Order: sequence, then structure tokens, then C-alpha cells
Amino acid sequence: MCGIVGYIGEQPSKEILLYGLEKLEYRGYDSAGIALLNGQGVHVFKEKGRIADLRAIVAEDVDAPLGIGHTRWATHGVPNRVNAHPHQSASGRFTLVHNGVIENYELLKRDYLAHVSFKSDTDTEVIVQLIETFVNDGLTVEEAFRKALSLLKGSYAIALIDAENNGVIYAAKNKSPLLAGLGEGFNVVASDALAMLQVTSQYVELMDKEIVIVTKESVTIKKLNGEVVERAPYVAELDASDIEKGTYPYYMLKEIDEQPLVIRRLIEKYRNEQGELAIDEDIVQAVNEADRLYIVACGTSYHAGLVGKQLIENWAKIPVEVHIASEFSYNMPLLSEKPLFIYISQSGETADSRAVLVRTKELGHKSLTITNVPGSTLSREADYTLLLHAGPEIAVASTKAYTAQIAVLAMLASVAAKAKGIALDVDVTKELGIVANAMETLCDAKHEMEQIAREYLATTRNCFFIGRAVDYYVVLEGALKLKEISYIQAEGFAGGELKHGTIALIENGTPVIALATQEHVNLSIRGNVKEVVARGANPCIISMKGLDMEDDRFVIPAVHPMLTPLVSVVPLQLIAYYAALHRGCDVDKPRNLAKSVTVE
Ligand code: F6R
Repeated sequence: MCGIVGYIGEQPSKEILLYGLEKLEYRGYDSAGIALLNGQGVHVFKEKGRIADLRAIVAEDVDAPLGIGHTRWATHGVPNRVNAHPHQSASGRFTLVHNGVIENYELLKRDYLAHVSFKSDTDTEVIVQLIETFVNDGLTVEEAFRKALSLLKGSYAIALIDAENNGVIYAAKNKSPLLAGLGEGFNVVASDALAMLQVTSQYVELMDKEIVIVTKESVTIKKLNGEVVERAPYVAELDASDIEKGTYPYYMLKEIDEQPLVIRRLIEKYRNEQGELAIDEDIVQAVNEADRLYIVACGTSYHAGLVGKQLIENWAKIPVEVHIASEFSYNMPLLSEKPLFIYISQSGETADSRAVLVRTKELGHKSLTITNVPGSTLSREADYTLLLHAGPEIAVASTKAYTAQIAVLAMLASVAAKAKGIALDVDVTKELGIVANAMETLCDAKHEMEQIAREYLATTRNCFFIGRAVDYYVVLEGALKLKEISYIQAEGFAGGELKHGTIALIENGTPVIALATQEHVNLSIRGNVKEVVARGANPCIISMKGLDMEDDRFVIPAVHPMLTPLVSVVPLQLIAYYAALHRGCDVDKPRNLAKSVTVE
């Protein structure tokens, strides 16, 4: 979490930095700040809240051709102006922004910085004070920077400026993402290419424990020992319009609407010249050689993994375990003889998932990352990658990445099955086409979803979601969507499980949203609905055509029973969206959250 930017060149940098920070706001929005360095010295502006709040306090008449900026998701120290970045050294000479967590900051304070009086409660301030201390001890700035970095334990993407040298930005990375962007007469650094697409599409990746010395003419990458590293730039294949909202009020609504297009794009991307689904043979072989697949993910991606288990076990007949990454690291299950690890991550940067990847690589196990971000950390570090091709997902609440993840898992399951000689009675390409059409129908039913949200969720303090079989996995996702953006306490349950405790929470009028898309559990989920209705619940049954009954509130178009999650999640996404809207919540930037969770 947190996003950083830096610009050095000939143009005024203030607007470039602020615009870049707006594009990184998905990484955190507790506070924001910029530092501009010109002939008059360093000018620091920082404020609690969003980039809009920062804009309001940045002096209009100050600008500079060199600057750094930060948008924060607070870890150490409450979100206020003092703890906002940039942070400055005791004399004010050095100014620094940081994304990550310095785990040993208290020890470093004790061992090296007893003479310094700290201004903030952050772990970050330690870095800038260390650099100044080492410079005062006689090191050059670069030496001091490298020495400070070599002492840090934890994660960081850093940009540093020196008031005594307006020709350079020092930057560095370990575990947190950072790119250097190349331009004519200027260069930039940023946590994500999205932030600087306005000025360049040429980027150089940085690896862990590298520093980069950026001037307006050059970008020099070095290892912490000073050895220079050569690396070719790449072109970020992102369209600036992909990251704009267009006429939509919120990114989330735009991204929900993009889902049919993403499914169709995936069909194209994973099809060979004969029109058959095709996935890199090495990946399919790795999947089929494994005696067990371990899917590791967090949040929404974990929910997609649960659906993936169902698809892979049913179609490719390979046993699958699905694990929450943050638990797996500390409570590792007994592994099979020949496991393959599948990391599902929209961002490809989630620290909890990455910690497991590092651990399983140490154990010598092969890994596949399924991600939306080419070149992301999880993609780079795994043996294989499958891309989601969903386009940038900006809203904090994941929607199109979730459906893309399920679609890719479905394609992987069917291709693996075929490679094993298992004859499936389903043409997945054709069925995904039907799914895309059904999604479109649902996206056109916004008015009905708005009505449901208004009717059931306008004033409630809680809401339960129930489902059986694969619908259970989808209601977990529906509940997560609702709670994260509307702050209604929402929980998803297996229909049969309510009576083992949770039914005690049902009161007169409690909304219970039930999914009924699976024939073999259609009657039993309806039985569960009757149980909660008998205790006063206000039921909202969303069923699939062909399984629908008289009192159902909404009926989704019929699709292949194994692919229903791709479709049944759409009304749940829209209901969550409208519930949040009615309650006056900031749909795209829910409180306390950030899109890319780069701390464990
Ligand atoms: C919820 C949501 C999160 C993410 C989770 C993992 O809408 O987006 O639960 O799914 O933080 O993120 P990725 O997929 O980037 O690893």
C-alpha cells in the first residue's frame, strides 16, 4: 500500500506529481504529500485525507522541475498531517517518501539515532534520519543511502531528494513495487506505470535490493554494493483511456460493465489458430504432473480460487486445496509429494501471497501466478504466469478481476482435462460466450438491482447471504463486496450452516440474500430460506432461469452449471454498488482499505 512518484526534468513537476498521485490513490488515501525542490529550496506540502485535500493546500505560486510525492495507507502512526509523507531529516536537507514497512525501525532508532528527536510516529522517518546521520559522518549521499538501505529489514519503495543537489532523485526498492520511467529530457519513478502514463510509456523494472539514481538525462540502476546493473526498458501496454472513468460516476460501475468484454477478450487471448482453447504447454504439463494443486490467495482472489477448485477437480480431476495466504505462511498444511502452487492475485503484489511464494520456492516447489498485472512481483517470481487481460482495475472493490480469474481457471481446467485425455461434455469457449451475453443482460438490469438495494439495504445494519455448493463460494464474495463498500455488516454462509449458530442473529426484517443456481441443491437452499423466513427474515432469492420459483426476487439467465459464479456474482456486485451509493459511501475508495496490499 501507499504509492510514490518522483519527477526530474525541465517542466514544472507539481501537476505531474499530483496527477500521478491521483492515479495511485487506489493504493491508499489516508494522507498525501509532495515535496518540490527549486532554487529557493525544498517546499513540502502534506495533508490528511485525499489528493483533493492535498491540492487544496498546495501553494499555487510554487513549482519546481524536481519533486516527489506520496499517497498513504497508514501502518505506523495515525493518519494525520505529521505522519503524512514526505518526511524530512533533522536539518531539513533530506526529504523522503516511502511505501512499505520497516520492521526493525525501533532497533535502528536505538542503535544509530539516539541523538535525533523524531517528529512523526512513522517507521519511515528512521530512513531519512539514518541517511543524514551517515552523511554527517562523512559518507557521500549515495553511500549513505546504500548504507541505510542495507540496515533496513522489511519492505520499501523509496524516493529521496537532497536540498543541496537539485539534479538527482535517489530511489530504491525491496518487496514493494517501483519502476523508473524514461522520457526525453526528464525521468520519473513511480509505484505503478499508471501514475506516469501521462508523460511516458517506457519503463525499467527495478528488482529487490536495487537502487536507482535518476537525473533528467539518465537512470542508473545499482545493487546495494554499488555494482551497476544494465536492464532494457519495456513499453507499458496500457492505454491512458483505460484508466479514466469516462462518463461513469465510479470506476466500480465501469468495471462491472466491462465484464462481458473481458470474458470475450479472454476467449480470444486463450484460443489457438484452430479456434480451440490453448494454454502454454509447460503450464498445462506442470498442472497435470502435480499430485495436488495449492491455490493461495487473499480476499476476492481467494473466493475465485474456491470456484477454481470446483472447476479443476470436476474437469481435470486433480485434487485442489485453497488457502488464505496470510494463514498459509504461519500454519502450513502437510504438503503432497508433488505440489504445484497457484497464486491468484489481481495486483500481483499482495505481500501475504508473495510471502508464501518465497517460502514455497525455498522448498523447491513450482508455481503459477494468475494475475492482471504483467511484470508484477508475483508474476516475475513464479515459474509461470497466466494473465487476466482485464485491463486496469482501479476501484478498490474487485469485480472484473474476480470474473476474469474464474474464467481463466475454467479454461485452465478444461485444457488440462483435454491434455489428460478426459472427454468433457462441455465446450468451454462456447459456454463462456453464453456467459458474456448473460453478463450483458445483467448489466442492463441495473435499475432492478438499484431497487433491491433500496428495498433491502437502505437502512439495515446487517445482511446475510446464503448459498449451497458453488453458490456458497459466490455468496462469500457477495458479502465481501457489500461490507467493504457499504459498511453494512454482511456475512456469507453455507445454507445448511445457519442453523448451527448464526440463525440466532436473524431478527424481524433481517435481509437474507439467497442464491439458487444449482439444481442439486435448489430445494435445500429454498428450505434454508424458509427457516430464516420463519424467524422474521426478509428474503431475496436470486435464482437461475429454469430453477426459478414463484417468489424469487430476480432470475438470472441460464448458463452452464459450472460457470454460474461468473454470472450470479454480477447482481451481487451491483446490489453492493447501489447500497453503498444510497448510503452516501465513496464507492471506489472505501474507508480503511487500499487496492494493493503490499504489507503482510
Ligand atoms: C476485495 C478485494 C480484495 C483483494 C485482495 C487480494 O474487493 O479486492 O479482497 O482481492 O486484497 O488482492 P490481489 O488480488 O491483488 O492479490
